[in-house]
Amino acid sequence: MRLEDLARGVPGATLEGSGDVEVSGIAYDSRHVKRGDLFVAVSGIRADGHAYAGDAVAAGAVAVAIERPVELPPDTPVLKVPSTRTGLGEIAAEFYGRPSRHLYVAGVTGTDGKTTVTHMAEHVLMAGGIVAGAMSTVAFSVRGAETVNTSGQTTTEAPQVQEWLRRMVDAGVRCAVIETTSHALVQDRVLACDFDVAAFTNVGHDHMDYHATWEDYLEAKARLIDLTAAGADKGIEKTAVLNRDDPSYERLSRRSIARRWSYGLTTAADIHPLDLTMSATGSRFRLKTPLGETEVTLAVPARFNVYNALCAAGVCLAVGVPVEEIGPGLAGFDGVRGRLERVDLGQDFSVFIDFAHSAGALASALAELRPFTRGRLIAVFGSTARSDHDRPGMGKAAADLADFFIITTDDPLREDPTEIARDVQSGVSGKAPGRDYEVVIDRRSAIRRAIEVARPGDTVLLAGKGHERTMQMAEGAEPWDERAEAESAIKDRAGRR
Ligand SMILES: Nc1ncnc2c1ncn2[C@@H]1O[C@H](COP(=O)(O)OP(=O)(O)OP(=O)(O)O)[C@@H](O)[C@H]1O
Ligand SMILES: [Mg+2]
Repeated sequence: MRLEDLARGVPGATLEGSGDVEVSGIAYDSRHVKRGDLFVAVSGIRADGHAYAGDAVAAGAVAVAIERPVELPPDTPVLKVPSTRTGLGEIAAEFYGRPSRHLYVAGVTGTDGKTTVTHMAEHVLMAGGIVAGAMSTVAFSVRGAETVNTSGQTTTEAPQVQEWLRRMVDAGVRCAVIETTSHALVQDRVLACDFDVAAFTNVGHDHMDYHATWEDYLEAKARLIDLTAAGADKGIEKTAVLNRDDPSYERLSRRSIARRWSYGLTTAADIHPLDLTMSATGSRFRLKTPLGETEVTLAVPARFNVYNALCAAGVCLAVGVPVEEIGPGLAGFDGVRGRLERVDLGQDFSVFIDFAHSAGALASALAELRPFTRGRLIAVFGSTARSDHDRPGMGKAAADLADFFIITTDDPLREDPTEIARDVQSGVSGKAPGRDYEVVIDRRSAIRRAIEVARPGDTVLLAGKGHERTMQMAEGAEPWDERAEAESAIKDRAGRR
């Protein structure tokens, strides 16, 4: 694409120097510049791209986008934009031909359940005859063909988002479902996406001591509604799908948008279940929606998956899946890898792998497994290096809701795993170490220990790693496979008995 043409589509951009150069890619990291790229000098949190603009040109960038003057080799074509952060989104969207205008786009945000809702909606769309694509923590999916997301980010940077959307358009996808984190919303990674649906799971915790933070967090998430309301018109009504049973509902429902559908377990919600029955493997209910009813049998356990199904149903209805297709579509969904994924080698106790790595998610996973556990509920978990996680809260959740638990390691990076475990342990009260819980820093040993102590009828929850394929250590990423670890522990136990 010629720089001149690219510049024309970017709001507020002015071109200095020749626009008659061919741009063959977009880069925002000078170390990854390829010959022919346009380098966008984003001022990030850790580094300011303006300092690396010269390096980028030396590495082959044909032009540079900046928000303030920098020293560059003479005759370097420069694109001046009001902000390089928002500029990156606009430039990437323009470079890939504004793909989000050629398909319906649903954004899914919230604290828990985003990935599940994203893939549930993708599945129901496909089953309902709407060719779908998805981007999530777990995978990028185009027409059902999955590429594992190894980026370490749920919502990748704008150029990748736009590139995947382009691939979807080229593959004939009619609707893309994008898992959208609040980080991505704050950092404008999905700025130049023309959304049609903004779907919300739950928002955060009920600790009012964090009130200000929670409001900020909610505000960041609420931007998805504003983006949707402002997105290009594609002939369907812009819709917000909101959880009526969540404390976020009151504020989110005040945001202006053409159509608002609430979902929840009571009849006050637009989308709700009737005659709900739950079992160890799933649930059954009649789904009431503003557009009619459908019978649903869910093959994924836990009450939160009923919520996720209601949310996914709202997304699919909004983009035109007939209501009678929703039930059969949901019935065929067999879960997301690493989300309450059962490991069943015929042993007489249950083992589940789950990605829950926050206090709230750990609590809800344990609460869900309890009613279907005849014996004891055993948990293995740790806290990651990311400091925004409530470590004592995880300890408290396990102490409150498990019969026995093992605190272990989960992506410690440069932090000392023993220190992290101590933070987690500080939230544990009224429990005796050795009897009610143990600290086993080595995760492999922790899993083996939990499987070893399990008795018939017990449930073992291995929380935190889920689908991930690496353990983030100080030395870098080491391969990790939670399922393989669990299976080998179960086999060894069986072999010894
Ligand atoms: N609607 C929900 N409400 C509360 N907890 C949920 C809900 N859905 C899923 N969970 C719990 O959270 C875990 C993570 O689910 P999922 O991966 O779908 O969430 P996510 O929002 O994508 O998480 P992340 O922020 O890590 O990407 C699940 O395994 C389950 O334990
Ligand atoms: Mg996710």
